[in-house]
Amino acid sequence: MVGETALSAETQREMESLIAEIANRNDRRLFYSLYPDEGPFARHLYAKHLEFFKAGAKYRERSFMAANRVGKTVGGGGYETCVHCTGLYPDWWEGRRWDRPVAAWAAGKTNETTRDILQRKLLGKITGQGTVHKGVDGTGLIPGELLGKPNWKQGVADFIDTIPVLHKPTGKWSVLGFKSYQQGAGSFEGTEQDVIWLDEECPMEIYGECLIRTAAIASLPDSGGIIMLTFTPRLGLSEVVLSFMPKEVHPGFGEDMAIRTDLG
Ligand SMILES: Nc1ncnc2c1ncn2[C@@H]1O[C@H](COP(=O)(O)OP(=O)(O)O)[C@@H](O)[C@H]1O
Ligand SMILES: [Mg+2]
Repeated sequence: MVGETALSAETQREMESLIAEIANRNDRRLFYSLYPDEGPFARHLYAKHLEFFKAGAKYRERSFMAANRVGKTVGGGGYETCVHCTGLYPDWWEGRRWDRPVAAWAAGKTNETTRDILQRKLLGKITGQGTVHKGVDGTGLIPGELLGKPNWKQGVADFIDTIPVLHKPTGKWSVLGFKSYQQGAGSFEGTEQDVIWLDEECPMEIYGECLIRTAAIASLPDSGGIIMLTFTPRLGLSEVVLSFMPKEVHPGFGEDMAIRTDLG
């Protein structure tokens, strides 16, 4: 029988801190718990997600259009972004692969939603304060021990501009950057990217910039990057979404206008 002897306050504090430490370690291992072989979250139950990953081996641009809460952000774009940045391809992975660190962007609609959803789900909560001590607790998808020191954006509180992510197989650093459509197409100009994840529909102008950032070098066919678009259609079919659709649902095809109107 346990419980007859009262624990000293000190022992109790020690135990509480141990329990918190165990919880924290588990929280930092979310990535490893996804897509297991069996159990209630076994990966064979996520056929669409696996199909989405697999298509990455063949297609440069992919769209995951689905209902809310089915796992587009965490189980879809977030998981794949994490896999490429860390190089931790699970043994069942049939999608695109890099054998070197990557440059990746995760982008959302506004600065605030990108920070509160994408940054939070990939990196965890903010800890500490001030430019020296502020960091993230690593309780998101990317295993905490693989995160380097973030660079913060100017002008938006607690929003990360870029963060190094350890690419395990090489011991070098991938760079993960955060962008928002609110910052405009101009902020998507710049360096080449291997992986761009757009969580929520974006304006065509921004999508066009992302295509340029991930374009292949003509003489090296496999040199191009990938774009992943994960979203729930809310505003009818935007120009970017239509570009993923079969021709029949594109505007300007006579009676197909009806299809478009219905969906809108
Ligand atoms: N493959 C998965 N296995 C287990 N849980 C998942 C998986 N994908 C997502 N989840 C959980 O389901 C919830 C909704 O996922 P999320 O990716 O945010 O959905 P969506 O972006 O489609 O609205 C989250 O709590 C997430 O942790
Ligand atoms: Mg989502």
